[in-house]
Amino acid sequence: MAFNNMTAQEAAQMIKNGDTVCTSGFTAPGSPKAISQHIAEIAEKEHAEGRPFKINLFTGASTSDKVDGCLSRANAINMRAPYQNVPDLRKRINSHDVHYFDRHLSEMSQEMRYGFYGKVDYAIIEAADVTPDGEIVLGCGVGNVPTYAALADKIFIELNGKLPHSLLGMHDIYMPLDPPYRREIPIYSPSDRVGSPVLKVDPRKIVGIVHTDSYDGVKPFTAPDEVSKQIGSNVVSFLVSEYESGRLPKEFLPLQSGVGNVANAVLYDLGESTRLPNFMMYTEVIQDAVLELLKKGKCTFASTCSMTFSDQTEEELFRDLHYFHDKIVIRPAEISNNPEVIRRLGVIAMNTAIEADIFGGVNSTHVLGTRMMNGIGGSGDFTRNAFISIFSCPSVSKGGVISNIVPMVAHPDHSEHSVDIIVTDQGIADLRHKDPVERAYEIINNCAHPDYRPLLLDYLNHGAGGQTPHSLRAAFEFHNAFNETGDMRNADFAKYF
Ligand code: COA
Repeated sequence: MAFNNMTAQEAAQMIKNGDTVCTSGFTAPGSPKAISQHIAEIAEKEHAEGRPFKINLFTGASTSDKVDGCLSRANAINMRAPYQNVPDLRKRINSHDVHYFDRHLSEMSQEMRYGFYGKVDYAIIEAADVTPDGEIVLGCGVGNVPTYAALADKIFIELNGKLPHSLLGMHDIYMPLDPPYRREIPIYSPSDRVGSPVLKVDPRKIVGIVHTDSYDGVKPFTAPDEVSKQIGSNVVSFLVSEYESGRLPKEFLPLQSGVGNVANAVLYDLGESTRLPNFMMYTEVIQDAVLELLKKGKCTFASTCSMTFSDQTEEELFRDLHYFHDKIVIRPAEISNNPEVIRRLGVIAMNTAIEADIFGGVNSTHVLGTRMMNGIGGSGDFTRNAFISIFSCPSVSKGGVISNIVPMVAHPDHSEHSVDIIVTDQGIADLRHKDPVERAYEIINNCAHPDYRPLLLDYLNHGAGGQTPHSLRAAFEFHNAFNETGDMRNADFAKYF
């Protein structure tokens, strides 16, 4: 079938106020680059002329300024899910201009298929190649696109000239059946392939091909600062001691690593360790550090949902694609983050927290309990099902006025029942087989910044009793002190006890 070539403007003009638009990709890679920018322009024009214009936008995870950024500035988003990380969208979410609901990434596809979010009008799919019978070679991120493409009435393809056709074979597109017909997903090792190298869509749904030509625009990482380096080194020390004590199998286990500078620093440190064997990754995102580890052979295989590389690293990947081709597989989010597979493989989960509490609760999403940061992403998918779940964060933020170890997290994303290890620049808290009070001493003594240890011990010693001795009156005194004085060190527990 011959497809219509069209401009991004022409494609955008087909999208109407109230439509549901779903995009391929996961982080910037694989996300659209062109049509969404013109949807934003249309929204601005419509608003200037006094007419409403907003779309419902469902993605794989975060996107980029070319999707979430411009649409948010144009106030063109009504509903949005799942993860996001663009500051302009964050502002819209926190001011309720956007109805954002934060779902575990593994659940988004199936919930769309279950019909929880209504019908899908358009899917915008970034592709390296498309055949006349609708076989699509996807870009560097997959996300939820198999489901979105299956549900959408109409599909636009953004054919990106920067993506080599030889990406063919790096994807593994698999969509499970829905209950009551679902079967096991037969992945027994991170490198197993169970699906198709291409996304197959009904070619009659493809209403237009838009040509683009740009890298994903991911910024390179800054060199890790001292705090990130210390956290990285503590995580690696923990893994070494687990390995050498025999609690990890001699073959080691696949690693999952979260996003951000700390996660990148941890991976660089893993690459340097001579006491750990080579390993595989079963994760949702691989960042620049992983390409280095694959080159060195320290990481022997990476299963991911997205290759979130900086433009420079992406260029290097494309140049040496023959080397990396059989060392990376890119899967849909419901497979990369699938609880069944994560539990079976025994994935070691390493994620970053905004704050953790003295009993082991973790807040991954809400700054000071109320303001949405990015979302839960895959942290819940991995943490709840991991062989060992590790959370790391700096002991303090904003120059020390915020303690990231608090009496009670102001927004609970991961409970003490799922969190095994907490790591900060100060040290490592091993929460396994410890009761709540033992955990509290472990976290305060090993992970809290020294400035905050006396305050946290004061809180613990005045708790109301019971197995988990919180004081419900005083539990948020750190947050209150910050809101009232700008410094958590001014917390005053004496007024409660
Ligand atoms: N209170 C207030 N602000 C805090 C804070 C706290 N307890 N902890 C961190 N912050 C601020 C930092 O100061 C920083 O502010 P800035 O942007 O003004 O400099 C910002 O929050 C981000 O902190 P940083 O330490 O740079 O975090 P990061 O880039 O390592 O990201 C998360 C941390 C938690 C936001 C990020 O990992 C995330 O979104 N996690 C949830 C999703 C997830 O875990 N996915 C994993 C699977 S990939």
